[in-house]
Amino acid sequence: MMRQPKIGSAQSSPTLPTPAQGVRWTTPIVETPGIVVLASWIWRLVRFLVTLPFRFPVMVTCLAVSVGAWWWLDWPGLAGLWATVSVVSLIWWRTWPDSYRTCVTLRLLAWWRHVAVYRRHWQPVLVISGLAESYQERRYLPRIRRVSCNAWADYVRVSLVAGTAPADFEHRVAELAHGFAAPSCRVVVNGPRDITLEFPRRDTLAEAIDAFPMTHHVDLDALPVGRREDGSPWLLRLHGTHVLVVGVTGAGKGSVIWSTVRAMLPAISEGTAQVWAIDPKRMELAYGRDLFAHYADTGESAVTLLERAVASMQERAERYAGKQRSHIPTTADPFVVVLLDEVAFLTAYHPDRDVRRRAENAIATLTSQGRSVGFTVLAALQDPRKEVMNLRNLFPDKVALRLDEASQVDMVLGEGARERGAEAHLIDPTLPGVAYVRMEGSPAPIRVRAAYVSDDNITAMTKVYGSDFSSNGGVG
Ligand SMILES: Nc1ncnc2c1ncn2[C@@H]1O[C@H](COP(=O)(O)OP(=O)(O)O)[C@@H](O)[C@H]1O
Ligand SMILES: [Mg+2]
Repeated sequence: MMRQPKIGSAQSSPTLPTPAQGVRWTTPIVETPGIVVLASWIWRLVRFLVTLPFRFPVMVTCLAVSVGAWWWLDWPGLAGLWATVSVVSLIWWRTWPDSYRTCVTLRLLAWWRHVAVYRRHWQPVLVISGLAESYQERRYLPRIRRVSCNAWADYVRVSLVAGTAPADFEHRVAELAHGFAAPSCRVVVNGPRDITLEFPRRDTLAEAIDAFPMTHHVDLDALPVGRREDGSPWLLRLHGTHVLVVGVTGAGKGSVIWSTVRAMLPAISEGTAQVWAIDPKRMELAYGRDLFAHYADTGESAVTLLERAVASMQERAERYAGKQRSHIPTTADPFVVVLLDEVAFLTAYHPDRDVRRRAENAIATLTSQGRSVGFTVLAALQDPRKEVMNLRNLFPDKVALRLDEASQVDMVLGEGARERGAEAHLIDPTLPGVAYVRMEGSPAPIRVRAAYVSDDNITAMTKVYGSDFSSNGGVG
C-alpha cells in the first residue's frame, strides 16, 4: 500500500496521480486554430493602420508627403521638400512666433510628453495609486484621450471606466502629481466619465510678483491682488462678503492685505470706499495709516472702532429696511472695509476678558449682518484652531497661506480641500505670499500668489492718495 504524504510536507504535490500509477495526465488546453490567430492579427493590423491617420494626422501626412516626394522625384526631390519646409518654418517662427509656438512647438511637446511620460507611466501610476485594478486588466484602465500643453502645464484628458468617479481622482492628486513628477495636480470635470488632469511642468509662482500698477478703475467684486498658477490674475471679491486670510508668521498675510488696499485706492480717494484699520502689532498697517478712515492699535481703541462700525452698520441697515436690498457704494454711503491684522490678539490673546468678549461680539455682528449693507471684514489670522478663532465660519471667503499643520487646511478651506490638492502646510517657506483659495462654483482649490507691496510702494501710495483722502476729510 502506498503511503500518502502529509499535507504541508516538503514532498511534491500529493494529490496528482503520477505516471507510475498508470494514469495519464493531460493539461486541459484547447488550442486556438491557426487561421483564427492569423485573422485576429490581420484585423489588429488593419485597425491600427486605419486609425493611425486619425490619431497622428500631422505625422502621417508628413510621412506620406515625404514618401511621395521620394517616389516621384527621388532623393533630390525629398531634399528639396525638406529644405522648403525648413525655410517656411523659419519664416513662420520669426514672423509669427506666438502662432508658431502654439501650432508647432507645443504640439510637438504634447506628443513627446504623451509618449514619454503619460503613456509610459500611466498604468503603473494608476495601479499603485489605487485608481486601476491590476496590471493584467487593461480593460478596466482609464484611457488617455488626449494630451495637450500650454506654456506652463500639461493637460491629460481621460475617459473614466464605468464605476469610477472624478472624486476618486480628486482624492489621489498627491499620488498622481508624484507619479508624473509634477509639482501639483488638479482635476477638471468635463462631463460624465470625462475629466482633464492638469499637471504644471514648473512652478509659475516661484518668482515674487511686484505690486500691480495703480489704476483708476475699481471693481470691488474683482480686485486684482495677485496671480493664479495659470498666469491669469487672482481677483478677490470684497463687496458682499468677508475674507479671512490665514497663515503662519512670515507667510505673507501683509501682502494680501496691502494688495487689496492698493487695488481699492481710487475708490478710497473718491470717497466711495473706506478702510477702518486695526493693527494690534503696530507693525503692518501703521505704515500707511494716512490711507485709513479710522485707525486703532490698542485693545480698547480697537474695540471702540469695532463698536463704532457696528453702530454705523446698524444705522445704515435701519435706513435701508424695506427700501433697498443691496448696497451701492456712494460718497454718502461708502463701502466700508474693517481691516483687522492679527485678529486673534483681540479675540483670544488680549489680557482683558471684557475687551476679548466685546471684540468677538462686534466681529460676529459685522460678519453676520454687514454683507448686504456694504460692510466687509477682512481679517488676518495665524492660528485657525477653534479655540483661537471660533468665528471662522462667519467668513465666506478664505485664503490659506502657509500653515503649520495638515489638519489646518480643511479648517480654513473647508472639508476635502486638502484631498483636492490644497497642500498649504507644504508651501515652501521661501515663497511668502503663495496661497490656496477656493473660487466660487469650483470645489477644486487654486494656487495663487499675492503681489508684494513693498514699503516704498506704501509710501508712494500714501503720498498720492493719502493727501487726497485727507482733503476729503476722511482720516479719523
Ligand atoms: N507676496 C510676497 N511676495 C514676496 N515676498 C513676500 C510676499 N509677502 C511677504 N513677503 C516677504 O515675507 C516677509 C513676511 O511677510 P509678512 O506679510 O510680514 O508676513 P505675515 O504678515 O504673514 O507675518 C515680508 O517682509 C516680505 O519680505
Ligand atoms: Mg503681518
